[in-house]
Amino acid sequence: MLKAPVGKAEMKVGIVGLGYVGLPLAMLFVSKGFQVRGIDIDHNKIENLRQGISYLTDVADEEVKQLVASGRFETASQYSVVGEVDAVILCVPTPLRDHAYPDLSYIQSAASAIAPFLKQGQLVVLESSTFPGTTEEVLQPILEKHGKKAGSDFHLGYSPERIDPGNKDVTLERIPKVISGVSQGCLLKLKQLYGQVFDTLVPVTTPRAAEMTKLLENCQRFVNISFINEIAMICEAMGIDVWEVIEAAKTKPYGFAPYYPGPGVGGHCIPVDPLYLEWKAKQYQLDTRFIQLAKLVNDQMQDYVLERIKKLLPTGKTLVNSRLLLIGITYKKDVNDVRESTPLGIFGKLLELGGVVLYHDPLVPRIEWNGRIYQSVALTPQTLAACDCAVLLTDHTQLPYDMIVKHAPLIFDTRGAIKRAHPHVVRL
Ligand SMILES: NC(=O)c1ccc[n+]([C@@H]2O[C@H](COP(=O)([O-])OP(=O)(O)OC[C@H]3O[C@@H](n4cnc5c(N)ncnc54)[C@H](O)[C@@H]3O)[C@@H](O)[C@H]2O)c1
Repeated sequence: MLKAPVGKAEMKVGIVGLGYVGLPLAMLFVSKGFQVRGIDIDHNKIENLRQGISYLTDVADEEVKQLVASGRFETASQYSVVGEVDAVILCVPTPLRDHAYPDLSYIQSAASAIAPFLKQGQLVVLESSTFPGTTEEVLQPILEKHGKKAGSDFHLGYSPERIDPGNKDVTLERIPKVISGVSQGCLLKLKQLYGQVFDTLVPVTTPRAAEMTKLLENCQRFVNISFINEIAMICEAMGIDVWEVIEAAKTKPYGFAPYYPGPGVGGHCIPVDPLYLEWKAKQYQLDTRFIQLAKLVNDQMQDYVLERIKKLLPTGKTLVNSRLLLIGITYKKDVNDVRESTPLGIFGKLLELGGVVLYHDPLVPRIEWNGRIYQSVALTPQTLAACDCAVLLTDHTQLPYDMIVKHAPLIFDTRGAIKRAHPHVVRL
């Protein structure tokens, strides 16, 4: 994967933030022959990379070793490296403050750190997901503090990252890349850079349009998953199998897009980005009613799952006096990410109730909850047989579904992962 195309001009790209977005992007640029300098404030990540150890599920240690051995990737913890590169791409987090408001502090501090080192003709691109206006209203003024102007001295643009961690079907370079610039000249620079790396470019006229594109995508997903979760609750009350209904509905050759129920939407993006849009829309005295409703439904899901478990348990058993085994603790399958994870929230609620709750996740050996560390238990016939109910919360591909079905006395499958009907398996 990391072979350099022969004869390629060696441009240097700096990537700020080497997480779920930045590291795969760095690998892609290196595979296309670029020199990459990766900057991260997390010294553990830098140290792991130097030692050839991956911290992402999608990236194998071997790939990190190849990256380092390619001679085209170096890590840096000093921002002065920005002065050596032709383009700087920001891939820093955009979480929520107080669970509700945009927290742009990572963008602001990364921008302040790189601003003194910007040089004439350099390109700066923001890839973090954020509300419309961030590039021009927040990032640009910080970058211009040292006298250089975007559009004339350096180039500035926004290109939303659309990576889907855990998805092995679509490689990063095949995901069409939406690009924008604060001027036509800036857009041209983005085209020149990204055109060498991605199969398809989708230029839009302004950074605000590109920022909004990302939010539209994630808001649509948030609203639709919450909607199908509401339908799932209605179906359950009516004694209808929602999974059967979705399978039947999706045979319609037009006009229906299937979404699937689950224990609630989590992760760093889908439940977070809509609140960025909500915050910005308020500045225009607008309510985001679909987003509010989607959030309301999503916020109910953990309690709904607990209620369903309660109802399933045999007579005399409660959430407190049962032994529950939660299978999967990450927010979605095949990733090791527990940010905003609803399975983790369910684990925490059960702990707070004082129940006996264990978890197993092949990708997360230990987790922290309220300052305490919990270890993933081994998934064996004995652990399964010893629980009152196994609750399947994340449908990782590598889970031994047959063994779970064979040995657990009762299973609540919140992901519809167990396809065949069994008397002791109940789906959400
Ligand atoms: N994770 C996803 O699936 C995904 C998909 C598309 C878009 N995004 C967006 O991409 C952005 C990054 O997300 P992520 O999941 O990669 O986050 P992450 O937490 O995995 O990675 C961000 C990295 O940035 C580093 N960092 C923070 N401040 C820094 C600074 N000032 N200088 C250098 N490094 C700094 C952190 O240490 C971390 O390693 C977010 O805006 C997110 O919404 C994420």
